[in-house]
Amino acid sequence: MGNMRICATLALVLGSAATLTGQAIQFSESQKVWLLTTKYNSYAMGVDSNGALQNLYWGAPLWRITDVQPATAKRDISSFDPHQMIDNEEFAGWGGPRFYEAALKVARANGDRDLVLKYVSHQIRGNELNITLKDIRDEIEATLHYRLYPENGVLQRSATIRNKTAAPITVESAQSATWYLPPGQGYQLNYLTGRWAAETQMNREPIHEGAKILESRKGNTSHNFNPWFSIDRGEGGGGGEEEGGVWFGSLAWSGNWRITIEQTPYRQVRVTGGFNTFDFSYPLKPGETLDTPEFYAGYSSAGAGGASRLMHKFEREQILPGGASARVRPVLYNSWEATTFAVDEPGQIALAEKAAKLGVELFVIDDGWFGKRNNDHAGLGDWFVNKQKFPNGLTNLIGRVNQLGMDFGLWVEPEMVNRDSDLYRAHPDWVMNFPGRPRSELRNQLVLNLARTEVKDYLFSVLDKLASENNSKYFKWDMNRAFSEPGWPELAPADQRKLWVAYTRNLYDLIDKLRQKHPKLEIESCSGGGGRIDLGILRRVDEVWASDNTEALDRLRIQEGFTQAHAPKIMSAWVTDVPNMNRRSTPLQFRFLVAMQGALGIGANLNHWSEEDFTTADKLVKFYKTIRNTVQTGSLYRLQSPRGHDVSSVEYVAPDGKQAVLLAYRHSQQYSTPAPQIYWRGLNAAAVYTVASLDGKVLNASPELSGASLMNQGLSLRLTGDYDSTAVVLQKKE
Ligand code: DGJ
Repeated sequence: MGNMRICATLALVLGSAATLTGQAIQFSESQKVWLLTTKYNSYAMGVDSNGALQNLYWGAPLWRITDVQPATAKRDISSFDPHQMIDNEEFAGWGGPRFYEAALKVARANGDRDLVLKYVSHQIRGNELNITLKDIRDEIEATLHYRLYPENGVLQRSATIRNKTAAPITVESAQSATWYLPPGQGYQLNYLTGRWAAETQMNREPIHEGAKILESRKGNTSHNFNPWFSIDRGEGGGGGEEEGGVWFGSLAWSGNWRITIEQTPYRQVRVTGGFNTFDFSYPLKPGETLDTPEFYAGYSSAGAGGASRLMHKFEREQILPGGASARVRPVLYNSWEATTFAVDEPGQIALAEKAAKLGVELFVIDDGWFGKRNNDHAGLGDWFVNKQKFPNGLTNLIGRVNQLGMDFGLWVEPEMVNRDSDLYRAHPDWVMNFPGRPRSELRNQLVLNLARTEVKDYLFSVLDKLASENNSKYFKWDMNRAFSEPGWPELAPADQRKLWVAYTRNLYDLIDKLRQKHPKLEIESCSGGGGRIDLGILRRVDEVWASDNTEALDRLRIQEGFTQAHAPKIMSAWVTDVPNMNRRSTPLQFRFLVAMQGALGIGANLNHWSEEDFTTADKLVKFYKTIRNTVQTGSLYRLQSPRGHDVSSVEYVAPDGKQAVLLAYRHSQQYSTPAPQIYWRGLNAAAVYTVASLDGKVLNASPELSGASLMNQGLSLRLTGDYDSTAVVLQKKE
């Protein structure tokens, strides 16, 4: 071991669930190697003899730092294939002969754009490691931040770019991290795509030479891609729902982002993510810095299911406000699909009374309560109560809602303005714009330039007032269009593109300040459904609206994709009326059981419901309350995908293992084919469970079965016809 200094000690019991004690970051000074280990994975880096910081390992846990091969300076393969291209540089500057996706690209005022980053120093503090790299000539630095979550199996990375020179520079690309997959072939990429009302659709494809880009250029996270990826070794190397190694990552940024997945000619698979380089230009004066977003990543040897369970737990414990001690999400009612803009006091009170009878805990009034908001042509920006609709302000409504035992929530869309609004008439300059050019409207609205301090301050005062004057415990924070003409004419031309970053930072700051002042306020992130769902906004909100598509069959696939990247707990899902999208009508129980996959809500027009509907709904809301702790805080097993299968099912196991819940759906039976056997997962084989069926659709099961039987013999369900559904609850016997 020579003069090796082990900075931290580890005691690992290797196996599928390695047990970790002690600190998780080891450093070998003689070998210049760092080994970062969590319960589920390890990550290693080293400095080669040229001073380049190289990635050395990412995968299942290692425990001996001496097992990590130190970084070696490689030779050029040919004049066309320089060693820089095979070095696995951890955070490569664009400079020298480097042709892949760089982590950092800068331009100096004199036009010089060469940047070669070498190791300078590092510090380890607990589970945090900072490594500083510097250009070979200039005082341009990148400090790489690593933070390990040993119990969660997640590594957080970001970078601070620092201009310590005496002249201005312009950052042209600033990425958070590059991740390298172990040398290998046949990698498969999984990612989520979508559009309005069709979010989080799953995609899977082989990684070939070349680059695949997942991104948003829209100013928000966007419906089109979620900033999440997972990579596995394909069918031959596992690549299943519950088997095989899976490398995954999620970027915490709600503005323009980009993740580039590359396979180089040298069979390296590298994933680089951070600010989108599209229209990016960020000047730094001497002494100024730029922080990149956090990029979280991990590895699981338990397939896609194992990877998503790690992310769910991580999101709940480390990302969401309140962490592990945050309450379970209440059952909510939202008025949007029932009343759209036609909200008024008697109408909302009538809905609230019916909702309360069903056991709803949070009543949210959606769009239409403010300004001249009778349709989407007017009113955005005028955040005062519409007196025609609510002559008593919101006081009576809120009072009645509270009297009925429910909390009250309010819809807001603070970042937007209609031309037909007092705010726009007073401050036409507050929207992002290029002077003299058209201001494109989408849904008749324009985007306020939240990058401007006066806009942020104004929005804080408006939201603070709304939260202070009304007993409003909840904001549904909507954002219904993408950016266009992102001009900031008040700044010098060279600085105007800072808008892309400053807008999102100010949005975060605004929410942070609001929550600080109103610690009991909860927020739902909505952007026309799932347009703003990422780990950056999730640090500040309690749940999200996954999609405006509430049609239950479509939802099954949207929700399956959603749970790849995000926790069921935050996935607000409503039961709405039929026929819904696709002109499809599904039974009320089917709609309820689909919405129970996350945070249950009701968005139907209760004035149209029959007695029978109320009886069914009452039973199902009560049922949900008996399982929601397991659904929202437990481990999710996606037993059978709705893609390509006539029967799909999901299972949740409570954190203490005492309860397990199965939700199963039949889409369309053909040829009288029985539903496939359900094989439970994640149970204790040696334990005995009571088996309770929601509606008697479990066939031939004794009321008690062992975990071994449930997982290996499975259960048969009687699911017949179209849109049949059922739920089964297991309770572990003491
Ligand atoms: C889009 C949201 O996704 C809907 O739920 C609803 O709040 C509307 N906006 C209101 O305009």
